[in-house]
Amino acid sequence: MPRDNLLCKVCRMLEILKCTICGKICMVVHNGSGTSVCCGQPMERQVEQGEDPGKEKHVPVVEKTQTGIQVKVGEIPHPMTAEHHIQWIEVIDGSSLSVKGLQPGDSPTKEFAHTDPAVKVRAYCNKHGLWSNKPSKTPH
Ligand SMILES: [Fe+2]
Repeated sequence: MPRDNLLCKVCRMLEILKCTICGKICMVVHNGSGTSVCCGQPMERQVEQGEDPGKEKHVPVVEKTQTGIQVKVGEIPHPMTAEHHIQWIEVIDGSSLSVKGLQPGDSPTKEFAHTDPAVKVRAYCNKHGLWSNKPSKTPH
């Protein structure tokens, strides 16, 4: 079974949408035919990025631990200042989704109880958007 089967191309489950005016961010748990609107305009779909040529590294890295897995953002620890930080890390494991929030000053690392390090993980940077170790190949 694919490890990211929650990311259905048809129903757009787990799609991340952002309002470019107020900054509200939403996750789609079931899509309909309408357009998601905030502050009077369509929300912007956040595309999963998987290659980071910049000096800051955003692609999440998964390592097995004795009790589960550890997810780090990224190879070089991402800044965690008020102006620039990782807002959350999520693990998508088959039909299971785990999300852990982060705050400025935290380490850009979280532990999860999942045991398979082959899972799909995503992380969201407040300045640089959505990142994944296994980005979806086709746009929704
Ligand atoms: Fe960033």
